[in-house]
Amino acid sequence: MRIISSIAKMQQFALRARHKGFSVGFVPTMGALHEGHLSLIRRARKENDLVVLSIFVNPAQFGPKEDFKKYPRSLKEDSRLCRSCGVDVIFYPQAKAMYPPGYLTYVTVEKLSDKLCGRARPGHFKGVATVVTKLFNIVQPTSAYFGQKDAQQSVIIRKLTADLNMPVKIKVLPTLRDKDGLALSSRNAYLNPKERREALVLPQALKRARSLIKRGVRDSAKIIAEMRGVIRSSGAARVDYISVVDTVNLEPLGLLRGDYLIALAARVGKTRLIDNITD
Ligand code: PAJ
Repeated sequence: MRIISSIAKMQQFALRARHKGFSVGFVPTMGALHEGHLSLIRRARKENDLVVLSIFVNPAQFGPKEDFKKYPRSLKEDSRLCRSCGVDVIFYPQAKAMYPPGYLTYVTVEKLSDKLCGRARPGHFKGVATVVTKLFNIVQPTSAYFGQKDAQQSVIIRKLTADLNMPVKIKVLPTLRDKDGLALSSRNAYLNPKERREALVLPQALKRARSLIKRGVRDSAKIIAEMRGVIRSSGAARVDYISVVDTVNLEPLGLLRGDYLIALAARVGKTRLIDNITD
């Protein structure tokens, strides 16, 4: 396994691979890898000749009051995990190479970026769309792997690649959870043991939504109210949003029909967590 920091070297590697006719599976990450990330790597490994994983804590997607500085960084452990899952290359660029002085170009996926998490995190998805575009131009993957955990991000990246005719297949894989149901996230590392227990109200609220839907409830307002109730009664987490939306345009659905996404964000202590389910 190689660790490549230079953008030019990564591009050369990608070009040679594509010339030889190798397929390249790409897993973009910000590091602090957990089983959720590893599930993407394993799928990429199964489906491609070469697997590239990037680790880049992208400053452009963090707001001024967000956790860019304290975001967990663990290259040594990440490398060990990558090696054990058969990654061929870790691309590990420096921020000053990705965004040199005088950098001016950003990618915006309109409308989709302002909804759900975009409301509380202005500029976040512009940062994500920009860095993913840059990474795709550098790594030139055949397929790229994302998690349903970040549902809005996956929708935005599908739209970005379709609108800009990028020659890459986007694959979105299911959310991996701890045994007790909490969705795996690098940010779970911020939770103390009490907050870790309190965070379980997120999957519990989604479970309530599922059981209501199973009983035939179709009214989104009713589902959202019940979910708020679950979270309120725990007294721990503070809801940022709970939304029932269309899986393609992320517009609110008054009544459940066809494909739906139920997404929520809540704060537990100082940590903002997200989770979702789809039909
Ligand atoms: P990061 O949070 O490191 O996540 C990298 C990928 O892992 C994303 O596609 C995310 O959806 C997926 N992932 C995270 N938790 C998961 C879980 N529990 N189960 C399955 N997949 C999971 O998302 C980012 O980084 C960044 O925004 C990035 C796309 C790299 C751009 O900077």
